[in-house]
Amino acid sequence: MTDKIAIYPGSFDPITFGHLDIIKRANALFDKLIVAVAYDNVKNSLFSAEERIKLIQQEITAHHLEKTVFTSSFSGLLVDFAEQNKAIAIVRGLRAVSDFEYEFQMFGMNSTLNANIQTIFLPASKQHHFTASRFVKEVARLGGKTSDFVSKNVALELQKKYAT
Ligand code: PNS
Repeated sequence: MTDKIAIYPGSFDPITFGHLDIIKRANALFDKLIVAVAYDNVKNSLFSAEERIKLIQQEITAHHLEKTVFTSSFSGLLVDFAEQNKAIAIVRGLRAVSDFEYEFQMFGMNSTLNANIQTIFLPASKQHHFTASRFVKEVARLGGKTSDFVSKNVALELQKKYAT
């Protein structure tokens, strides 16, 4: 039987506990999960794509997921990247109702572009409903504590970014 491969795409600027929760749960559903960093999605990303990938890889290793969870980056259309990687599904996390509209539109676009690739929405676990990279960066920039939202490693890298 062929492996069931899924893509978990995003900006991951930087990876949070919310992302990690989705990675672990999606990993339980598929044979292989590719966490795919969108190269040109965010104009002013804090971390470069290479740095974001490195941070994700460090989390994957720390959580012993490296046998089935891989990282990659992509530019261009997500469905093309998914097809190139023989993925059958795109995984997206949903935190709040406000996420839904944007995600549903993206599903509509992606499924029209390529009807063979399913979109799977995983609701964020309740402790991660308010976790967003955007807000974590703001907290870090203003000197607040980020350890409830990101790993020690990511918190340190955030500190370094804002120290310079
Ligand atoms: O973490 P984000 O920023 O919400 O991720 C958004 C992302 C990267 C999944 C989305 O912007 C995307 O898929 N970009 C690739 C371009 C694409 O395929 N666009 C068509 C779908 S509307």
